[in-house]
Amino acid sequence: MMITTASMALRPTLLLASTAASGGPPRAIPGSYGLPLLGPLKDRLDYFWFQGPDEFFRRRMAAHGSTVFRTNMPPTFPFFVGVDPRVVALLDCASFAALFDASLVDKRDVLIGPYTPSLAFTGGTRVAVYLDPSEPAHARVKSFCLDLLRRNARAWPSEFLRSLDAMLSAVESDMPSAGKPANFVLPLQKCIFSFLCRCMVGADPSADPTIAEFGFAMLDKWLALQLLPTQKVGVIPQPLEELLLHSFPFPFALVSGDYRKLYDFVDKHGGEVVRLAEAEYGLKKDEAINNILFVLGFNAFGGFSVFFPFLISSIGGDRSGLRAKLREEARRVLEAKELGFEAVREMELVRSAVYEVLRMKPPVPLQYGRARADFVLRSHDAAFQVAKGELLCGYQPAAMRDPRVFDDPDSFVPERFVGERGRALLQYLYWSNGPETGRPTTENKQCAAKDYVVDTACLLVAEMFRRYDDFQCDDGGLAFTKLDKATMAQVK
Ligand code: HEM
Repeated sequence: MMITTASMALRPTLLLASTAASGGPPRAIPGSYGLPLLGPLKDRLDYFWFQGPDEFFRRRMAAHGSTVFRTNMPPTFPFFVGVDPRVVALLDCASFAALFDASLVDKRDVLIGPYTPSLAFTGGTRVAVYLDPSEPAHARVKSFCLDLLRRNARAWPSEFLRSLDAMLSAVESDMPSAGKPANFVLPLQKCIFSFLCRCMVGADPSADPTIAEFGFAMLDKWLALQLLPTQKVGVIPQPLEELLLHSFPFPFALVSGDYRKLYDFVDKHGGEVVRLAEAEYGLKKDEAINNILFVLGFNAFGGFSVFFPFLISSIGGDRSGLRAKLREEARRVLEAKELGFEAVREMELVRSAVYEVLRMKPPVPLQYGRARADFVLRSHDAAFQVAKGELLCGYQPAAMRDPRVFDDPDSFVPERFVGERGRALLQYLYWSNGPETGRPTTENKQCAAKDYVVDTACLLVAEMFRRYDDFQCDDGGLAFTKLDKATMAQVK
C-alpha cells in the first residue's frame, strides 16, 4: 500500500495553517453505488434532471458529512456498454490535489470520465489529452503544443486583438440603439475560431470560404456529439433530454463530413505547423493533424467558448462598481503602454477579476484520474483508503468554493487575488488541471496554454474598457450594451 498525502500539496500558507489534513487512520469512503442498474439510473436522473450537477454533489456531501464519497456518474444506462459509472467524488481543495499527482493517478482515457467517445471523432488517433504522461506519445505531442505556443507568443496578442475588433464591431452594428443590448455569442465564436486558426494552424480561415463561414459551427457540432451524453443541456424538456441526449453514444457519422473538411483545411493550409510536428516531434502526418484539430477544437475553441461568455457576463452583470475600477486601471496602464501581454500583466485588478471568474465558474468542471495503486487519500478532515483502479472524480465548482481555503466562497469577490494574501491563494486555483502557480510540462497534465488563457482573458477585458466607458450584460448574460458617458448618465 502506498501512503501519501494529497494534501502535502497544500503547503503552509497564512490561510491554511489551521486546516492540516487528518493524520488519523484511514476510514472507509462513505456512500454506496446502490443496486446494479437501479443505483446508476437513480444517480443519472438526479444529476441531469431532478437535481442538476451542483445540487447533486452538494446534497451528497451534506448527507455523508464528507467532501469525499462514492457515487455514480452518468452516462450509465442502457446503451453505454462497458462504461463503469462508479467513482469517488472529491470536493475539497486537499483531496482534489490528488488528481495532479502523476504518481497517484493514471490519466489514460479519462478526460470526460468513465465514458470515452469513439476514436473515430479524433480520426483514429488517441490524442494527447487522452494520454497518460507515462505514454511516450504524450511527451511528443505536449512538447509540440508548448513549442507551438512559444513560437506564436508574439503574434498571439495582436491576432487576438484583430479578431476581437471584428467581433466588437459586429456586435456594435447589431445594437438597435444606444443602451439596447446585442447578442455576442456568434461573433465571439467566429472571433475565437479565426484567431486560433491563425495562431495554431498558421492559416487564415478566409483561405477556404466554407471554413471561414462554417468552421466554428462544424467544431460546435463535433464537440456536442462527443460531450452531450455527459452534459446537462436544459434546452429540451424532460424526459426527452434523457431519452434523446443521454441514453446512447452519438455516431461519428453525423459529423464525419465536417471533420474531413477541417482535416483537409489543416492539411492544405497548415503545412508549416504539420511539418514542424513531423520533423521536430516525430509525429506521423495524420497523428499531427488529428492532434492539432483536437487542441484547436476541443481544448482551445471549446475552452474559450465556455469561458469568455462567463467572463463577459460576470463583469457586465456586476452591480458593485467593479467596472469603473477596471476601466480606471486599464486606461491608466494603457496611457504608458500599448495593449498587449506586457501591459495586461501590470493590471492587477483585471487579472484578479479573471482569476475570480475562473474560480467561480471553472470552464472544465470535472477532472478524473484512476488510482495507480492502493493509497491513502486525505481531505481536510479525514483519511480514506482508495483501492487500485478506482476512478477519482474531482468536481471543481465545489472544490473552488472550499470554505477552508476561500473566505466568503460563494460570493464573486473580484479583488480576491490582489496583493500578497491574494497571490498566496493562487496555489488553490485549479481551473487548468493544476495549481495556478504550477507549470505545464510533459510530466503532468496541466493545460499547455494555462498562462495564455489568463493573459488572453485580460486582453479581452482591457480592450473592452479601452473601447467603452462601460458595458452591461442583460439578465441572460449573452448580450451586452456598450455605454458611453452620456448614455451611462441616462441609464443611471
Ligand atoms: C479557456 C480555455 C481553456 C481551458 C478552460 C482549458 C482547460 C484545460 C484543462 C482543464 C485541461 C486538463 C484536461 C484533463 O486532463 O482533465 C487542459 C489540457 C490541455 N489544454 Fe487547455 N484549456 C484551454 C485552452 C487551451 C488552449 C488555447 C490550448 C492550446 C494549446 C490548450 C491546450 C491544452 C493541452 C494540449 C492540454 C493537454 C495537456 C496534457 O495532456 O498534458 N488549452 N486544458
